[in-house]
Amino acid sequence: MNTLLAVRELQVHLADRTLVDGASLTVGTAESVGLVGESGSGKSLSIKAAMRLLPRGLKASGEIVFDGENVLSMARKELARYRASDVALIHQDPRAHINPSRTIGQFVTEGVVDTGQMPAAEAWDAACALMRDVGIGDAERRMHQYPHQLSGGLLQRVMIVAALLPGPRLIFADEPTTALDVTVQSEVMAILLEQIRERDRSLLFVTHDLDLAAAVTDRLAVMYAGTIVETGRSEDLCARPLHPYTAGLLRSRPSATRVRRLQAIPGRPVPAYEAGPGCPFSARCAFAEDRCQTERPPRRELEGREVACHRAEELAGSLRERVS
Ligand SMILES: Nc1ncnc2c1ncn2[C@@H]1O[C@H](COP(=O)(O)OP(=O)(O)OP(=O)(O)O)[C@@H](O)[C@H]1O
Ligand SMILES: [Mg+2]
Repeated sequence: MNTLLAVRELQVHLADRTLVDGASLTVGTAESVGLVGESGSGKSLSIKAAMRLLPRGLKASGEIVFDGENVLSMARKELARYRASDVALIHQDPRAHINPSRTIGQFVTEGVVDTGQMPAAEAWDAACALMRDVGIGDAERRMHQYPHQLSGGLLQRVMIVAALLPGPRLIFADEPTTALDVTVQSEVMAILLEQIRERDRSLLFVTHDLDLAAAVTDRLAVMYAGTIVETGRSEDLCARPLHPYTAGLLRSRPSATRVRRLQAIPGRPVPAYEAGPGCPFSARCAFAEDRCQTERPPRRELEGREVACHRAEELAGSLRERVS
């Protein structure tokens, strides 16, 4: 598989504070990757960095390569094209990212029209066709409505349309269904996945929900304190975690098929700037040894996956038992 996006040793700083600390992950062409981790681990900032959309004052370093092009060194014009047509972002809360005074039609089409990708009439027709693809039957009528006239689930479908219209090769979806009612969450997720698969697009899907991510993606990257502690094929990673944090996340999820006691990961997640020199998970890890407190474990290959744990080889068997 061709690598479409490669993030290598990404760091995000706010003055002397480290918010993302050496995150590395790749997304292949037509591949779906889940980026999973607890709140504050740096998932959203990593995505924002990959789109060069970090808030003012935050600085990214390391390497972000999209289809052979270095995103962090793109000049204005290249960057505008990259953001307008190579990648797209679907946010958690659609209402926070849509101008309430513009119609749905204006919102959906303005990007491709402003950048000269499509004339207005063509954009309108293409948007209506996409609206139907995502299950919005009365597309023409909806295009003339305002955001407050649409439910959250419908508005998130509109966001999917807006993201797909320019034909981006990679879609970043940052908790795209968390703000919706439970009843529409799975519907919207299914629509997003169907559209991405049908069009052979790539997806980087951010979520707290390891089970959901595993169910809908090809590969997973598990983030902790601003760094990726384990990556691998979704099935393998869930069946046989190699990092104690991944195993902890797996044990703390409810099972739909079995009754068992949930085991929360003790302690609280730390932000990257509080992680200290050793393994960032060491303070909460049942398997931590002295070197885990003092030496940052390098990321290395094991069983066709990448893991950053000093004890990954010796622990693999017992971690699997703990989650099975
Ligand atoms: N604009 C900002 N200025 C300063 N610190 C920030 C800013 N945005 C995020 N942070 C901090 O950076 C760290 C990573 O934040 P980020 O939003 O990427 O986390 P996340 O993994 O997306 O969490 P969540 O699951 O809650 O969305 C956190 O400690 C957060 O407080
Ligand atoms: Mg976030």
